[in-house]
Amino acid sequence: MIDIPELALVALVGISGSGKSTFARTHFRPTQVLSSDYFRGLIADDENDQSASADAFDALHYVAGKRLAAGRLTVVDATNLQKHGRAELVRVAREHDVLPVAIVLDVPEALAWERTEARADRDFGRPVLARMHRDLRRSVGSLAREGFRKVHVLRGPEAIAAAEIRYERLF
Ligand code: CTP
Ligand code: MG
Repeated sequence: MIDIPELALVALVGISGSGKSTFARTHFRPTQVLSSDYFRGLIADDENDQSASADAFDALHYVAGKRLAAGRLTVVDATNLQKHGRAELVRVAREHDVLPVAIVLDVPEALAWERTEARADRDFGRPVLARMHRDLRRSVGSLAREGFRKVHVLRGPEAIAAAEIRYERLF
């Protein structure tokens, strides 16, 4: 059971192919989920255009802030493997007195690769995924220190598939 406050900024954390977008679709309403792919598409007409990432994240953080200001649960569907990117999420959450929460999807690199290779819309090589996996290993231990108030680590596809979200009342 994943306990999250009914108003939270939820950061999904996981390598490509770990199942973040699938998890987001399963557990949250479409409008609650801000995905970096979607924002890259808005900016650059191409969800894979990495050169649009900085602008895409600016826009994503802006929208996240507007949602949190209105008291709406917000989920960030991005790999969130870099400390500086996560720091922005913690900053936006704090700015609106909202708790930042991390849900880590930790799957074996080989499984993520199998899934990613099968996708027509992903064309990076295995070394890129290996780098993400190293970044994930490094990230897991530091999330709490970075300001995430709850850190849920789902280890393996079974744990991810079995996860249920339970909302905690704030008052
Ligand atoms: N998938 C699957 N079984 C799961 C979860 C995902 O077969 N339990 C498949 C999805 O259908 C998709 C691929 O694996 O084709 C990647 O899943 P996705 O949720 O898109 O992974 P993300 O973590 O969102 O990947 P990315 O960071 O590249 O967006
Ligand atoms: Mg995705």
